[in-house]
Amino acid sequence: MAESEKKSTATDKDAKVTPDTQKAATQEAAEKPALAANKKTAGAKPDAKALVRVEGLKMHFPVYKGLFVRKEVRRVRAVDGLTFEIYDGETLGLVGESGCGKSTTGRSIIQLYTPTEGRVFFEDEDLTKLSPAEMHKKRRDIQMIFQDPYASLNPRMTVGDIIAEPLRVHNLAKGDEVDRQVQELMTIVGLDPRYVRRYPHEFSGGQRQRIGVARALASKPKFIVADEPISALDVSIQAQIMNLLNDLQEEFGLTYLFIAHDLAAVRHISDRIAVMYLGRMAELTDADTLYEKPLHPYTEALISAVPIPDPEVEATRKRIVLEGDVPSPLNPPSGCVFHTRCPYAFERCKKDVPDFREVEPGHWVACHLTDEPERRDGVDPTES
Ligand SMILES: Nc1ncnc2c1ncn2[C@@H]1O[C@H](COP(=O)(O)OP(=O)(O)OP(=O)(O)O)[C@@H](O)[C@H]1O
Ligand code: SF4
Ligand SMILES: [Mg+2]
Repeated sequence: MAESEKKSTATDKDAKVTPDTQKAATQEAAEKPALAANKKTAGAKPDAKALVRVEGLKMHFPVYKGLFVRKEVRRVRAVDGLTFEIYDGETLGLVGESGCGKSTTGRSIIQLYTPTEGRVFFEDEDLTKLSPAEMHKKRRDIQMIFQDPYASLNPRMTVGDIIAEPLRVHNLAKGDEVDRQVQELMTIVGLDPRYVRRYPHEFSGGQRQRIGVARALASKPKFIVADEPISALDVSIQAQIMNLLNDLQEEFGLTYLFIAHDLAAVRHISDRIAVMYLGRMAELTDADTLYEKPLHPYTEALISAVPIPDPEVEATRKRIVLEGDVPSPLNPPSGCVFHTRCPYAFERCKKDVPDFREVEPGHWVACHLTDEPERRDGVDPTES
């Protein structure tokens, strides 16, 4: 049994799950198709308009020393100069190992953190220049779905109040209209509106994430940052939440930044995929090109680790095993931050930071090999 499932079962048992909610959870699991059915068919076109434009985004967290006189001694360079766009109506998958700065990127884009440097444009308006009151208004259009459906819902609020909060905060409805919209939102995300007065602990993990999705949708946003929205859920429930997010995107024309740990989780739902390493962008292109023609050695390594469903192919193929751990963002390596683990690294990689540039239409990479492809000759990355 998966860890998340164990957690869900224990929590639900403690919280006296009713036969109704149990039945709904089982029904939920049975009714929805498998994750593989999520493959996107229509995505944003390469010439689509950018809804979000990120320019030179940096988020450094200061580390202080001293009890009485606080002195900044170091900086965690969690996000260290990102430039990319998110097209209107697309899903941009953002992947990378734990600690590479994915959540910090999402939070800095929607101004939950004040970026150290850089600009974030939403519909051509620079969010970093807005006053708190102006940003408050913008939050109607920009929402977030969190990883942990247990921690992200206030246990003392009813489901109805949780979903109604954005409606009240942004003055979007009053009185009976709030109740009507809450019920409608519950129906949209597949929750029985009769449970409106129940508390989060009375629901299963998947249902709680549906509550989080309903809350995010309440203000009719244009852009949603989904930060690992399925990784705390049991595998059978993950497919349902992915399907739900897909359906909602089609119905409401939403744009997603979908954050995940690994490429397998985002392939089928992303129009384009961005790969991050130690606070920097390594590669960004459409999902198929990234899989079929990765140009960055880090992407190559991630793809070589994605399981192949055919057992014969899986048994014979070689994986690229990266040596060592991800370096600390307190003291990132010089030059290309990946050089300490890259099987192709050469002298220049230790000195020069590679530009993140468009090497083919719509295909962005930060690697010196794009200038010197012959450096690949004779190197077998599976043997490093
Ligand atoms: N508020 C903070 N103060 C100081 N350091 C932080 C803060 N938030 C994140 N960090 C550090 O910044 C780096 C990036 O963290 P972040 O949470 O963005 O990574 P992530 O890619 O989302 O990781 P995960 O996959 O584990 O969620 C990490 O080294 C983390 O310890
Ligand atoms: S720049 Fe050098 S170290 Fe960095 S990914 Fe490319 S080859 Fe490897
Ligand atoms: Mg994270």
